Amino acid sequence: MDLQENIIKLTEVDSTNQYANELLSTGNVAEGAVIWSEYQHSGRGQQNTSWVSDAGMNLTFSIIFFPGFLKLEEQFFLSKVVSLGIIDYLDNLDKGYKIKWPNDIMHGKDKLAGILIECGIEGDKIKHAIMGIGLNVNQMEFDKSIPNPISLREIHDKEFCIDTLLKSILRAINKRYKNLINGDFEGISRDYLSHLLGYRETINFKKRGLPFTAKISGVRSTGEIILNENNQEHLYGFKEIDFIL
Ligand code: BTN
Repeated sequence: MDLQENIIKLTEVDSTNQYANELLSTGNVAEGAVIWSEYQHSGRGQQNTSWVSDAGMNLTFSIIFFPGFLKLEEQFFLSKVVSLGIIDYLDNLDKGYKIKWPNDIMHGKDKLAGILIECGIEGDKIKHAIMGIGLNVNQMEFDKSIPNPISLREIHDKEFCIDTLLKSILRAINKRYKNLINGDFEGISRDYLSHLLGYRETINFKKRGLPFTAKISGVRSTGEIILNENNQEHLYGFKEIDFIL
């Protein structure tokens, strides 16, 4: 499987994740298929938000994986390999990029990319995973409703070729996914933590609207963040806390 070899390029679609879901339901799709659209009229974000991106300005694509080799409780490794693949590419541009748990790609306090993962589960196996990635590339002005967005063009003061960028990022994700297939769980977790925003630092969070301070001491393979609050460890799932940056 090579991600760069099976790209379905669309001009417009509702959502590339939705298109991937429909492809999967035909039963006729190979692992590593990439659905890339210049525009999504109903792009989806995490927690039932929408992902808004101007036509032809940014990258919006989804990758289909069949990670039958992963246990259900290891599914967060998919998130780690995709965020790390993106970071591997960005590291060549500058070292200031970080992963905000669970999988936002940040430049300082600003969000460059988001990932929406949708898995199909059968018994205790992950039958398929749709990894939807939205990365701000050449857009300079964003809708006011989007919290702290930033694009590569704003950061690096130049335009990027979307096509070349997609291929480079796919190459990097492909490499990380192969490491996962080969069982390098330790290396992937180490690299994830070394790029994790606020790792081992004291950070301000919000829980049910109330602020609190804690040190990030790790992330479990199932994806929960481990926070140290007054020398006690607490686990939180995706929707339970928010960062105050
Ligand atoms: C987030 O909220 O941070 C996740 C955003 C994910 C957006 C991407 S764009 C390509 C794919 N298709 C979608 O509808 N959403 C994801």
